[in-house]
Amino acid sequence: MAVAAVIGAQWGDEGKGKIVDFLAGKADVVVRFNGGDNAGHTVMFGGKKFKMHALPSGCFHEKKQVVVGAGCAVNPKTLLEELGMLAKAGIRPNLLIDARAHVVLPYHLALDGAQEALKGSGAVGTTRRGIGPCYADKAARIGLRFADLLDKGRLEAKVRALHEIKAKELGKVYGAEFAQSEAQVFSELSGQADRLAGFVCDAILSVNESISKGKNVLLEGAQGSLLGIDSGFYPYCTSSNPTSGGASTGAGIAPSKITEVVGVLKAYVSRVGEGPLPTELPDGVGEAIRDKGNEFGTTTGRPRRIGWLDLPCLRQASEINGFTSLAFTRLDTLGGIPGLRICSAYKLGGKTLHRPPASSEALSDCKPVCEEIAGWEDLSPGEWRAVAGKGVGALPAQARAYVERVSSDLGVPASIVSVGPGREDTIIIKDVFAQ
Ligand code: IMP
Repeated sequence: MAVAAVIGAQWGDEGKGKIVDFLAGKADVVVRFNGGDNAGHTVMFGGKKFKMHALPSGCFHEKKQVVVGAGCAVNPKTLLEELGMLAKAGIRPNLLIDARAHVVLPYHLALDGAQEALKGSGAVGTTRRGIGPCYADKAARIGLRFADLLDKGRLEAKVRALHEIKAKELGKVYGAEFAQSEAQVFSELSGQADRLAGFVCDAILSVNESISKGKNVLLEGAQGSLLGIDSGFYPYCTSSNPTSGGASTGAGIAPSKITEVVGVLKAYVSRVGEGPLPTELPDGVGEAIRDKGNEFGTTTGRPRRIGWLDLPCLRQASEINGFTSLAFTRLDTLGGIPGLRICSAYKLGGKTLHRPPASSEALSDCKPVCEEIAGWEDLSPGEWRAVAGKGVGALPAQARAYVERVSSDLGVPASIVSVGPGREDTIIIKDVFAQ
C-alpha cells in the first residue's frame, strides 16, 4: 500500500497531468486535492489530446476511483463539460465529489475579472476562473459547497443570501453590473445539481476507508508549490495550497498516511501571469524553448514566460513538501538548446542566497547566479521514445548528468524521467507504488 502525492515543484505546468496519468495505472484511487479549473492538464490518450481542467487526470483509467477532494473549488459547468467530453470518447469516470468541496459561482468569475481590472498594473494575472473569490468566500464562511447542491431548499436560500451580497459588491465596489438575476443563478445551479448529485458524497470517509483496506492512493496536486498561497510568492500566487501539506488537508487524510511525495519538475521553468521569475529568458532562447515546448497556457492560451532551471526555488520547494523522489519532465525540449544554464544561487544586496527570499519584492531584486551546463542533442520524438524504451542508461550522457546534478543538489533521488508527451515516453527509475 502506498499513498503518493504528486506535487508541482515550480510555478505549475510542470507536466503533472502526464505523471499522474502514468502513475494512475497502479493506483486504485486518485484524489485531486486543490484548485479548480484554473489548472490545465493535457493528457494524451488513445492518440488524442485531452485538455482537462476540473476533473482529476486519473479519470482516463475507468476502473480507478477518481475524487474531487474537499480542498477543491470547482465550477460545476466545467465539470459537466468535461464529463460530456469524456462520454463522447466513451470514457465514464468512476467519480466522487466531496460534499465539502466549494462551488465556483458566476459571481466569483465576475469578481475575479473586476478585481484584476481594479488592480491595474498590480494585477496578479489570474486565470479569471473565479478561484480567488471562491476561496475568499470559503474563508469568510459564506461559500456554497457541493453538499448544498443536494437540498434545493437550502440551495435556494443560500443563493438568495449570496446574490444579495455579491451583486451589491460588484455594483457598489467595482461599478460592474451582474447580468444574471437571482432566479437565473438558482435555476442554472439547480440543473447542474440534478446532474451532479449522484457523484456527491463524503469522499474523506471513502478515501480513508480505501487507505485502511491497503489500496494505492494517488493525491493529485494542481498548480505548483511556488504558486501556493502560503508557500509561494504572495500576492502573485493562487489561493490554495498545492503542497504535500495541502494534499493532507485537501484530501482529508493524515500527513502521516502519505508515504511518497513526488516533486514534478520541468527541466527549465515557466510561469504564466505576473510576478518575479529570476531566471527569466526574455531573449531568443526563451522563445526557442517556448516554441519547441509549445509553452502556451492550457487554460488561457497565454504564452508562458520561460527561464533556466532555478535551484534556490527548488531547494525551498523540496523542503516545504518533503519530496521523497523527483519526476523530471521535458528533457527532450531542452535537447539542442545552445548555452544551457542552471541557476545555483542568487545575489541580493551583496549577499549570496541559496534559498529565495520570503517576499516577491525581494525576489524581484535577486540576480541569478547561473552556471553553464553541457547540453545534449536534439533527438526526434521517435528517438526519444526509443531511449525511454531502453531505460535511464540510454539517456544522452549530458541529460543524465543534468538529472544527477539536480537530484544530488536537492538530496532527492529521481523516480521518473519523461522525454515526451505519451505514456511510452516515460522512464521509471523507482516505482512509487512498489511494496
Ligand atoms: P488563479 O489561480 O486563477 O487565481 O491565478 C493566480 C496565479 O496562478 C496566476 O499567475 C495564474 O497564471 C497562476 N495559475 C493558476 N493556475 C495555474 C496552473 O494550473 N498552471 C500555471 N499557473 C497557474
